[in-house]
Amino acid sequence: MEKHYTVIGDPIEHSLSPGMHNAGYEALGINAEYQRFRVEPRYLAEAVEGLCALGFSGWNVTLPHKEKIISLLDRLTPEARRAGAVNTVKIHEGQRIGHNTDGNGFVRSVERKLDGFKGKKAVLLGAGGASKGIAFALAEQGMKVHILNRTPEKAEALVQAIHNEGGTATSGVFAPGAWLENVDLLVQTTSAGLHGEPFPFSIQGITEQALVVDIIFNPAETDFLLEAKNLGCLTLNGLGMLLYQGALAWEFWFGGQAPVEVMRQALEEQLLRRMIHK
Ligand code: ATR
Repeated sequence: MEKHYTVIGDPIEHSLSPGMHNAGYEALGINAEYQRFRVEPRYLAEAVEGLCALGFSGWNVTLPHKEKIISLLDRLTPEARRAGAVNTVKIHEGQRIGHNTDGNGFVRSVERKLDGFKGKKAVLLGAGGASKGIAFALAEQGMKVHILNRTPEKAEALVQAIHNEGGTATSGVFAPGAWLENVDLLVQTTSAGLHGEPFPFSIQGITEQALVVDIIFNPAETDFLLEAKNLGCLTLNGLGMLLYQGALAWEFWFGGQAPVEVMRQALEEQLLRRMIHK
């Protein structure tokens, strides 16, 4: 029997997830189809009922529904509960289970570039939804997490939540500082610079060989990443996080290992096609 999956969000037309998942189903001969549906916020509850009524086996959730969907679900995994957000839903024995693969997707995307996590220092720029999942996942790996946010109260609240889970975290000012000389992993999660304006500060003085990640993947190289590269850092954009959050969602639905290389290729091809058609 064919299984049905989808991603819901608003906007959704640019989602690369259908191409990535369908390529994986085809490669492994899985009888399933992955779609995408735009769901306006006011219709979220009806959409969830509809997906259940139509027999969907699971779905991904993207902006702006990641938090609102929680009240419509039966159970949350620890990852979703900690992040306070859901990006993956599975229907299991009639129950709607909410999960979050963003944080561990990020961890998987950097693990081959970092020589271990334990005791190393991660600095996160931003304390919004995206930062939260990543911060918990890195703390769970044993990293010391330092969070810098324009609104300091949000960074402090996140630090407190990480402490409550037994992790190590501190917060600081959203500005250059001593942290630059002593960082193993720097992660840019804010929307600063997203609309072409320069990033609010320079990271000159950063530890050479630090791994610097911007979770944006389009453009492939933000000004922030370009500066990091010019300063001798290893850089990564957000494509790996997108890939591995998808791979972990796959594994949550089907068990076994997702065909990561096929999925990566499908993502890259879609991005390339988009660049050509621009
Ligand atoms: P997301 O889910 O993508 O993380 P979000 O929850 O709205 O989105 O969080 C956006 C993040 O970008 C926040 O950390 C925000 O800082 P504030 O908490 O102070 O709002 C940060 N951000 C957005 N624009 C920024 C700017 N121009 N300078 C610095 N930080 C900015």
